[in-house]
Amino acid sequence: MKMLFASALVAAFALAGPAQAQPLVIKFSHVVAEHTPKGQGALKFKELAEKKLPGKVQVQVFPSSQLFGDAKEMEALLLGDVQFIAPSLSKFDRYTKKIQIFDLPFLFDDIEAVDRFQSSAEGQSLLNAIKSKGLQGVAYWHNGMKQLSTNKDQLQRPEDVKGLKFRIQASDVLEAQFRAVGANPQKMAFAEVYQALQTGVVDGQENTWSNMYSQKFHEVQKTIAETNHGVLDYMVVTNSKWWDGLPADVRQGLSEAMAEATEYGNKLAGDFNARDKKLIGEAGKARIQALTKDDIAAWRKAMGPVWKKFEGDIGKDLIDAALTSNW
Ligand code: LMR
Repeated sequence: MKMLFASALVAAFALAGPAQAQPLVIKFSHVVAEHTPKGQGALKFKELAEKKLPGKVQVQVFPSSQLFGDAKEMEALLLGDVQFIAPSLSKFDRYTKKIQIFDLPFLFDDIEAVDRFQSSAEGQSLLNAIKSKGLQGVAYWHNGMKQLSTNKDQLQRPEDVKGLKFRIQASDVLEAQFRAVGANPQKMAFAEVYQALQTGVVDGQENTWSNMYSQKFHEVQKTIAETNHGVLDYMVVTNSKWWDGLPADVRQGLSEAMAEATEYGNKLAGDFNARDKKLIGEAGKARIQALTKDDIAAWRKAMGPVWKKFEGDIGKDLIDAALTSNW
């Protein structure tokens, strides 16, 4: 009987053939729509990683907070429930104060300056600033410069937002920025913003053209002022223990895929924001308010005190290094 059972097992194994190694499933979760710089960057990473590591990895991308939203994604990464996330740089202040530098209002003149700083030795070292928390930054991804929007007709000078409620990302610098202009900031997950604007829970928000268009914020706001007052970029992060434990060839292939996806997505970001600004204008729902140099100077002056408040946490050296990227 025993013999029979053993030979049946052998026969079954022979029929099934040698066991096939299953590909490593890698989950990449993010909170924005697919037709955004981050959405496209994540899909490009999937395509390249699977091409470079055929049969070895399978990358699953979950957009629009489908898998994890803002509140849960870092925790999920640390627990190993997801392997890559790309939160905006504003969402790291619980993990390191240094990354708050990216939220200082009017620090960078444009996205090219942001890029120069991110590529510098100081910028690159920030990718490791969260290592002690079990997180490894593997790339910066661009979205673009932020604009302000409200449900009011007038949005030109800082006094126009006095007393208004603004949704902000979970960042103490952004909280201080809105307090500096006499507004009331409210931290809120990205997935909740549209409804909060629609129902008047908040009056306004700040974001990039591509995020506003893809979330239809322009349909529930009256005015969008082209302030370019800050940057909304991302750090792609992984779990450092998972990353360090990968077979060397897999880590190498994923690193290459990440570098190429970064280049691809960063090139798209400018185009997407230009396209989506145009589409918002054409939609005719929210009015786009162009600002004069004088207006911009007034916003810069009103938000300026925020720098001093966070200089101790961020470090003056780092701020000075970032400023040199404007030249
Ligand atoms: C936001 O919360 O407004 C953004 O960080 C969303 C994103 O990931 O672009």
